[in-house]
Amino acid sequence: MDQLLGLIEARTATIGVVGLGYVGLPLVLLFEEAGFPVLGFDVDEQKTAKLARGESYIRHIGEERIQRAFGGRAEATTNFARLSECDAIIVCVPTPLGEHREPDLKYIRVTAETIARVIRRGQVIVLESTTYPGTTREELLPRFEATGLKCGTDFFLGFSPEREDPGNERFSTKNIPKVVGGIDADSLRAAAALYGAAVDHVVPVSSAEVAESAKLLENIFRAVNIALVNEMKVVFDRMGINVWEVIEAAKTKPFGFMPFYPGPGLGGHCIPLDPFYLTWKAAEYGVWARFIELAGEVNTSMPRYVVDRVTEAVNRAGKSILGATVLVLGLSYKPDIDDDRESPSFELIELLQERGAKVSYCDPFIPEARRGRKHDLGLKSVPCTADEFAKYDVVLVSTPHSAFKDASLYGKTKLVVDTRNIVGADAAEKVVRA
Ligand SMILES: NC(=O)c1ccc[n+]([C@@H]2O[C@H](COP(=O)([O-])OP(=O)(O)OC[C@H]3O[C@@H](n4cnc5c(N)ncnc54)[C@H](O)[C@@H]3O)[C@@H](O)[C@H]2O)c1
Repeated sequence: MDQLLGLIEARTATIGVVGLGYVGLPLVLLFEEAGFPVLGFDVDEQKTAKLARGESYIRHIGEERIQRAFGGRAEATTNFARLSECDAIIVCVPTPLGEHREPDLKYIRVTAETIARVIRRGQVIVLESTTYPGTTREELLPRFEATGLKCGTDFFLGFSPEREDPGNERFSTKNIPKVVGGIDADSLRAAAALYGAAVDHVVPVSSAEVAESAKLLENIFRAVNIALVNEMKVVFDRMGINVWEVIEAAKTKPFGFMPFYPGPGLGGHCIPLDPFYLTWKAAEYGVWARFIELAGEVNTSMPRYVVDRVTEAVNRAGKSILGATVLVLGLSYKPDIDDDRESPSFELIELLQERGAKVSYCDPFIPEARRGRKHDLGLKSVPCTADEFAKYDVVLVSTPHSAFKDASLYGKTKLVVDTRNIVGADAAEKVVRA
């Protein structure tokens, strides 16, 4: 333990980061910039090759940062045997849901087995992937201890949730407080020392399970509140009340209220998926997390609600949705980034196509719709211009990219359905909020 703490203090500990995605890559940069030698591991050879060439594959991470790090103390590799060179290993692999919304831990398990093959005395291993409480202790610990090494004396194991917010200009990996939990007291000491060397604030908690649960609470808090405001939208809409104006008014209360905003559905890697890690685990204890399930039900019904509103609006304009041309604005799940994971825009497009509409999309951040696990649109973005927008029977705002806030884009449009309240009522001939 003392040797590991000494290496961390001297910044000579080699840090391994497994999974170089939205979470892992910023961590590599963080530790490299803090003065550590860093080895980044990924199964995707294209990613490691790009990093070696100094190229970025995540839009909000600039190439000069990549070039500085990978021309400096960082290296990317697909050779997992090199995990043995690392004094600290941080795991940031995906944690998706399976076909039946059950946790899919295969990436964590494969990684745990890979690490178990090379684990050695004096290493600290931290899981960062979002998951249900108990994963670190139930999935990682037994695989590592099966080697004969003992946690807390030979190696150290903890969990520390990632709180990355891509595109956030105020908060980055360095200044977002880092919650850290250990399997035992010495594991907590080791993991807290590791992050303490690179981030501004470490928040130690009493166990890995508390750290795992804190992340889920944060995401469930968002999912439930977004569901609440989506329900408010449906209710107020029926009553002819503008929910956006209601939120603006309510948020002037200086205490006890936090604004959440409605939208066409949930997107991203976290909020639509993570809550169901907890509901699944809760069932093992005979507890039904009804609030979370209800929030999921409300949020997943939103794309259909929006498409119903589009159909009505087109109908009122004297047309049929069958054969109507629809331009969906935005494919990414949140503004001004190129991340399209779980984006509700895909579902909007498919539901509109099912109803016979001819759908195009415009997204300055995503020139071509990627083929995903669930979707294969085979579409390319159309230009973001007023002349282009004017060609469609209806323009449907899904993602509030800054570029879409330019009122002059809508001057020649006939009908706009706006799920994000970014198009002024007089910007187009007709604007419907949905
Ligand atoms: N994206 C976010 O904003 C965010 C925020 C908080 C937490 N998280 C959590 O962090 C974890 C990672 O998410 P992400 O957004 O970075 O995902 P990602 O898909 O961007 O990156 C995961 C990376 O892991 C790689 N990978 C897959 N299997 C691997 C293996 N066996 N060994 C090594 N690498 C492997 C993939 O090639 C990919 O590069 C998830 O659990 C997610 O829930 C994500």
